[in-house]
Amino acid sequence: MHINPYLFILPRTPGQIVWNYKNHTQHELDLNYTSRLARLIDNPNLFDRQNIIDVQLLKAEILTIAKIDSPQWGWDELSKIYHIGTQNIPCARTPQNIHEWSRQYLDHCTEVLNKPAPAQQRPALNTGQRIALPAPCGLTDDSLGNALRQRKTCRSFTGEAIPLRDVATLLYLSFGFLHERENSRDDCIAHGLHARRSSPSGGGLNACEGFVLARNVCGLEPGLYAYHPAEHALSLTNPLPESALGDLLGGQHFINNLPLGLFITARFDRLWWKYEHSRAYRMAFVEAGHLSQSFQLVATALGFGTWLTGAFADDRVEALLKIEGSPEQPLFFVGCGASDGQAMCREMQDLLREVQA
Ligand SMILES: Cc1cc2nc3c(=O)[nH]c(=O)nc-3n(C[C@H](O)[C@H](O)[C@H](O)COP(=O)(O)O)c2cc1C
Repeated sequence: MHINPYLFILPRTPGQIVWNYKNHTQHELDLNYTSRLARLIDNPNLFDRQNIIDVQLLKAEILTIAKIDSPQWGWDELSKIYHIGTQNIPCARTPQNIHEWSRQYLDHCTEVLNKPAPAQQRPALNTGQRIALPAPCGLTDDSLGNALRQRKTCRSFTGEAIPLRDVATLLYLSFGFLHERENSRDDCIAHGLHARRSSPSGGGLNACEGFVLARNVCGLEPGLYAYHPAEHALSLTNPLPESALGDLLGGQHFINNLPLGLFITARFDRLWWKYEHSRAYRMAFVEAGHLSQSFQLVATALGFGTWLTGAFADDRVEALLKIEGSPEQPLFFVGCGASDGQAMCREMQDLLREVQA
């Protein structure tokens, strides 16, 4: 008999909460159960099939017959609990199609808007006179200003094919190691840490990577591709999954015909190597955010609408990217394509009209 490695125990008088952070289940144990569990933790071989508590602990998967291996993790248990505990969030009912999604999302928004909203003003900043700032001036070359002003989250895409040339531009300017920066190398930077992207990177480690989801790209077979930033090249990882893209992305089916997407992953092992403290876990997400924004600005400048999400089925995405059980983990998804620029998909707009009528 074994103790499930994905447990943590919270003291909550009069009992103890045993939390399985992988399965997202909790059990409240009284003194009898916690005393018995303490004995079994000390020696799992004391397991006794005649003991009702032991049988119940096994049924609750606090004990397991087979040994469960826990994945490699280079930071502390706290960050591991958080990382695994926020993966594969169970959803009472994942929307199966765009109509279900629209209805569920509308219900959710209605519920949220019926609750009192947080204060508009930040309480601590209520005092102090405002110092008016000059009107913003135009940038010398306003293409950046335009991209910043025009970027918006679109939820309605035509599905039209994207030229491979645009995909290459997008990947190079957001994820590629910039050749243009090779000549401005700083001699004091350690060997192996010279590569630079358009976005900053925690410790210069370039811990984030990108996997392209090509649904409709001219000159590229549909599929999942790893992007190699040093060579500015792609390699096929997997064909497209049979199920709709929305199934992978939290049931957000308005995205089913998005022609191009990018899963942003982080190589935690690179961060473990340099940063011992789990605070570096936060940096992985910050870096992914920078890369996502760069991707969106380039896509906007190329005339595409953009969309992004952190809601996906982690285990399915990991399998698709062939990184299951590895220290490389998917963090975010960003995509783009020809769009009518609508923030809401047509089905949601129809539903809103129907509800308002
Ligand atoms: C971290 C993050 C997660 C997001 N997740 C989703 C998402 O799951 N689905 C979605 O449709 N939009 C998502 N968005 C987009 C936001 O809803 C959008 O940025 C916000 O409504 C403001 O609109 P704008 O991007 O057009 O300025 C996300 C944005 C961020 C920054």
